[in-house]
Amino acid sequence: MFVCICHAVNEKAIQQAVSEGAQNVRDVRRSLNVGSQCGQCVRQAHEVIEQAKALAVDSQFYAA
Ligand code: FES
Repeated sequence: MFVCICHAVNEKAIQQAVSEGAQNVRDVRRSLNVGSQCGQCVRQAHEVIEQAKALAVDSQFYAA
């Protein structure tokens, strides 16, 4: 599903950015331009980032 229509960025691209170190919308904006045009996607991008970060923490917890 597309999160940012203006830049054709989907959830997977944002999840990939988080796995590569992005921590917030500002980081994802730098790498993918999310939220840099109309701004309508910022809230959803934030939710996807937080979910991806939570999953990363969970996988680290269960891998230990
Ligand atoms: S939908 Fe992301 S900047 Fe417009």
